[in-house]
Amino acid sequence: MSILVTGGAGYIGSHTCLALLRGGYDVIIVDNLSNSNPESVARVEELAGRKTVFYRADIRDAVELERVFRENSVEAVIHFAGLKAVKESTEKPLEYYENNVGGTLSLCRAMSACGCKKMVFSSSATVYNQSNVSPLTEDMPAGETTNPYGTTKYFIERILADLCKADQDWRASLLRYFNPIGADKSGRIGEAPNGRPNNLVPFVAQVAVGKHPHVEVTGTDYPTPDGTGIRDYLHVSDLADGHIKALERLMKTPGCETFNLGTGKGSSVLEVIAAYERACGKKLPVVKKPRREGDIAVCYSDPSKAQKLLGWKAEKTLDEMCEDSWRWQSLNPEGY
Ligand code: UD1
Repeated sequence: MSILVTGGAGYIGSHTCLALLRGGYDVIIVDNLSNSNPESVARVEELAGRKTVFYRADIRDAVELERVFRENSVEAVIHFAGLKAVKESTEKPLEYYENNVGGTLSLCRAMSACGCKKMVFSSSATVYNQSNVSPLTEDMPAGETTNPYGTTKYFIERILADLCKADQDWRASLLRYFNPIGADKSGRIGEAPNGRPNNLVPFVAQVAVGKHPHVEVTGTDYPTPDGTGIRDYLHVSDLADGHIKALERLMKTPGCETFNLGTGKGSSVLEVIAAYERACGKKLPVVKKPRREGDIAVCYSDPSKAQKLLGWKAEKTLDEMCEDSWRWQSLNPEGY
C-alpha cells in the first residue's frame, strides 16, 4: 500500500517514513526541502533497507502534485509539510497562511481530483485555548490561538472537518502533538534546526555539544513545583508509530477524528535539563531568564482517546528521549 508523505524529509516526517517502511508500506515523499535536507531521506532508506519515491516539489504547485498522483497509486496521505516557527509566524503571517493553509487546500484539491480522500494531519496541542486546564482532552475548546502558526493548524483542522462533512468519502485524522523530542535509536536521523533553535531540547542538545555556553530557562516563577514550565514531552519514534495507528484506523473508520498524541505526563524545564545531563554525562550551565511571551505554565495531554481508539500509547521515558537525542546530536553536531 502506497502512502504519500508531505514534508517527509523533515524531523517528524523522516521518523514517520522510517516507521512506514518498516511496517511494509511503500512511501512517496513530496518535500520542497525549504527547511530539510535530502540526506535524511537517504538515511531513512539505509535504515529501512528500502527505497522511497522522492519528489522535490511544493504542495502549492498543482501541476507537480497532479503528476505525483498520476505516477503513483496513493492510498492515503500523511501531511506534515508546512512552516513551524512560532516567532517567525508573527513576523511573516502571510507566508504561514500561504504555505500551511494554501498548501493544504492545494493538496486536498489534488487528492479529491484523483479520488484519494484519506488524510492524517500533523496538528498541534497549540490549537487548544490557553484557559484550558491540563490534562487536555480533545473536546476542550480550541481556536483561541496566540500566533499565526497555531492559527494555521486550527484553520486546517476546520477545513478538513468541513471537507469530511461535505463529502462522505473524505476521512481525516487530526493528530494534536504535544512536545516531540528525541531521535531514532540509531543516531542516524534526528532534528536538525536551521539557526538558533527555538525549542527547549534542540537548544539543550546544542549546549551539550558546546555550541552555546548555557541553557536559558525562560520563566522560573511559574506556579509549578520548581517554578519552570511543564510540558508533555514524547519520543518522536513513539509519535511516528502513532501515525501508523491513525492510518490503520483511517482505513476502516469514516469521518473526521481528533487525537492527542502525548504521554499524559508533564515534565518541567529543570527536569528535562537534568535528564539531558544524565544522558550526556556532563553538567549543563543554566541561566535564569524572564518568561517567554505567549508561554503558559502547564500543558500536558490526556492521551486516553488515542489509547482506546488507536491502540497507541507512548512508551519511551524522558531518559530514553534524552539519550537518543544526545546520540544523534553527538554523532551529527552539524546536523545532516
Ligand atoms: C512550542 C510552540 C508550539 C509548537 C511547539 C513545537 C510556543 C509558545 N509554542 O511549544 O506552538 O507546537 O513548540 O514546535 O512557542 N524553554 C526554555 N528555554 C529555551 C526554550 C524553551 O526554558 O531556550 C521552555 C519554555 O518556556 C517552555 C518549555 O521550555 O516552558 C518548552 O518550550 P518549547 O520547546 O519551545 O515548546 P513549547 O513552547 O511547549
